[in-house]
Amino acid sequence: MQATKRVTLIIGGGIAAYKCLDLIRQLRAAGVSVTPVLTRAATQFVTPMSVAALAGSQVYQDLFDLKDEAEMGHIQLSRASDLIVVAPATADLMARMAGGHADDLASTLLLATDKPVMIAPAMNLRMWEHPATQRNLAQLRADGVQVIGPNSGDMACGEYGPGRMSEPAEIVAAIAARATPGPLAGKRLLVTSGPTHEPIDPVRYIANRSSGAQGTAIARALCALGAEVIFVTGPATVPPPDGVNLHRVETAREMLAACLSALPVDGAVMAAAVADWRVATDFAQKIKKGPQGIPELQFSENPDILATVSAHAQRPRLVVGFAAETENVIAHAAAKRARKGCDWIVANDVSPATGIMGGSENAVHLITATGAEDWPRLPKSEVATRLAARIAEALA
Ligand code: C5P
Repeated sequence: MQATKRVTLIIGGGIAAYKCLDLIRQLRAAGVSVTPVLTRAATQFVTPMSVAALAGSQVYQDLFDLKDEAEMGHIQLSRASDLIVVAPATADLMARMAGGHADDLASTLLLATDKPVMIAPAMNLRMWEHPATQRNLAQLRADGVQVIGPNSGDMACGEYGPGRMSEPAEIVAAIAARATPGPLAGKRLLVTSGPTHEPIDPVRYIANRSSGAQGTAIARALCALGAEVIFVTGPATVPPPDGVNLHRVETAREMLAACLSALPVDGAVMAAAVADWRVATDFAQKIKKGPQGIPELQFSENPDILATVSAHAQRPRLVVGFAAETENVIAHAAAKRARKGCDWIVANDVSPATGIMGGSENAVHLITATGAEDWPRLPKSEVATRLAARIAEALA
C-alpha cells in the first residue's frame, strides 16, 4: 500500500472539532495534504477561516455550490484523495453513513467514494453506548470503514467514559500505519493490561504489583504488525502505547464492560492482573478509626474476564490468557487453560526471586492444545514480539 499523501478531512459538528485544527497541522507536518469538508454543524464549532488557513486549502461545505461543483465536486473530492477521514464522527454522521444518506456534501461524498474511509467517533458516552450507535458502528465496520477510538476519559459534557475523540497524534499514527500493512492488517485485537484497583472506601483500594509492562509491549507489537488494537488498561505504571484504541479502567467490572463492548474482535490477549476479589460492602464514606475497632472486610468474587470472553457468543478466534504462578508453573497453567476455555496460556513464574513482576524481563512457557514450549528469558518487548508473530500466524 502506498503512503497516504492526500487526505480529504470531513469535520463533523461536535465539540471535538477543535482538535481537527491540530490534526490538520500535524498531518501537514507529516507531509500529507488536507482538503477540508465541513458539515453545517461543524461550522458551529470551528470556523471555515481557521480550517482553511491551517489546511492551506479551500474549505468545501455545500453540495449545491455552483462554484465548488465547477471546480471540485463531490466526485472530484473523492478522486483527489487517498483516504477520507471523518473526525469527529458524530453519532448523527455515523447514522447517516450507516444508512447511506446523501443529503449534504459530506454524506454524498462518503456515499460516492471508492477510497478507504477512516472515522474517529466522538460523542457523549450514553450516545456512544446507545444500541443505535453500536448498530451503526457494526454496520460501518462491516462496510469496511476503519474506526479509530474513541478513547475513554473526561468529556466536555462533564461525564467520564468512552466517547472522547482520539488525539490528533493517534489519528496521524493510524494513517501512517496504513502505509505499512503488516500480517495483522485488517485484524482487530483486544489486549488487557495492568492491575485493577478495587475500592475499599472512597480513598483506599486493593491493588497488585503489575506494572502493565508486558501487556503494553504486546499491544505495541500487535500494532507494529498492523493490527487495530483495543487496549483496555487498569492503572498501570508504564504509559500506554501510541496508536491503540485506549480504554482506561480501574476495577475488574469496568474492565469486563470495556472488553465486552470491544467485541467482536479477531483475537484477545488478556495480560491484565485482574483482582480476583473486590470488597463487598459499599463504603460511601472513609472508614474511620474508632472505638468500633478494626474493620472487617467482606469480599465478593470478581467476574473472570478471560473465562467470560472465552465462553462468549462472539468468542474471538484466538483467546490468549496469562498465568502468573509461583510453583508448578506448567501444570497449573495447563489446568488453567482448560478451566478458562482459552486457546493459549502464557505462563510465567512470578516468585519474588525471579524479579519478573514489575521487572523488564520475562521467562515464559507457551501452553497450547499441543503442549508447552519453554521460551528463554527475554526482555518483555522481545516476548511481546515473538507472541505477536505467533498470533499473526494463528490468525493468518
Ligand atoms: O486465575 P488467574 O488470575 O491466575 O488467571 C490469569 C488469567 O486470567 C490472566 O489472563 C488474567 O488476565 C485473566 N483473568 C481475568 N479475570 C479475572 C482474573 C483473571 O480475565 N477476574
